[in-house]
Amino acid sequence: MDFDTRYKQYLAIIEEWLEDVIPPEGLSDKEFPEKTIYEAMRYSLMSGGKRIRPVLSLAVCNMLNGDEKEVIPYAGAIELIHTYSLIHDDLPCMDNDDYRRGKLTNHKVFGYATAILAGDGLLNLAFEIMLRETMKVDDKTFSRLKTAYMISVSSGIKGMIGGQVIDMESEKTEISYDLLCQMHRKKTGALIRASVLAPALLLNAGKDIVEKLEIYAENIGIAFQIKDDILDYEGDSEIIGKSTGSDTANNKSTFVSILGIEKAKELLKTSVKNAVNALDGMGNNEFLTQIAFFISERNK
Ligand code: IPE
Ligand code: IPE
Ligand code: MG
Ligand code: MG
Ligand code: MG
Repeated sequence: MDFDTRYKQYLAIIEEWLEDVIPPEGLSDKEFPEKTIYEAMRYSLMSGGKRIRPVLSLAVCNMLNGDEKEVIPYAGAIELIHTYSLIHDDLPCMDNDDYRRGKLTNHKVFGYATAILAGDGLLNLAFEIMLRETMKVDDKTFSRLKTAYMISVSSGIKGMIGGQVIDMESEKTEISYDLLCQMHRKKTGALIRASVLAPALLLNAGKDIVEKLEIYAENIGIAFQIKDDILDYEGDSEIIGKSTGSDTANNKSTFVSILGIEKAKELLKTSVKNAVNALDGMGNNEFLTQIAFFISERNK
């Protein structure tokens, strides 16, 4: 099966799951006086993100011959956490962006208060779903607990939120290359790493497999943000579906601003190569290999 067909298959599974967990459209005001937040959550969630994080989880699950049903609630929860981070990231007090996933940003449509609450709502929903899954008592309970814990750490102050803090504090001052790498590893790499490792933990994969996946994940994580920085610099906002030039406007330190565009592209290639090499000797690794190339070649 070719890469696009397989990606679309995973996408269909994820879209269906997301549709199931997000409150439906057209609820009555009388029964759901709080329904504005449901609309705001749906607006950002169901608007065509690439879903690369849950796709990675399903792909790793498949590579390890695991049961998708065991993995999808955690993979989906990561997509909910990711979407909340985007809503908050676009707020005027953060990156101040007007377009996301091909549409106006959440606060532009619903206002600041609802956008903040919609982000919080998605974050809470993710944990509600993971706890509900984890509470099922059987021989897999402990693996699920470890997975939920790992996702909590990855999305929190030691991971994504920590990275966002470094990002905000490094506006208008050029940070060191080491701090830049640390920032990217946390703000973007941590959730990507979590997406790759979640199935390995859920399926109790062996130490050597986890170690290889860690190296793969670290490298595609950094590659993903290098490419994001490159797209902000030279991408087409129509295709990406979000504003370009945002990093320059906010005086952000990025791989492009610190290394220059050519060196950033070189480092992107090296990271992809390192990711692909890490999969060496693992069977059934074609799709994960192709995802690494997809990350560097994507134009959105
Ligand atoms: C954008 O993520 C923000 C980063 C962490 C770099 P994506 O490029 O995965 O955005 P969507 O989910 O496809 O919209
Ligand atoms: C965002 O990085 C990382 C998040 C955790 C949301 P960016 O600020 O570069 O992401 P975009 O370019 O707005 O999608
Ligand atoms: Mg940002
Ligand atoms: Mg941003
Ligand atoms: Mg960016």
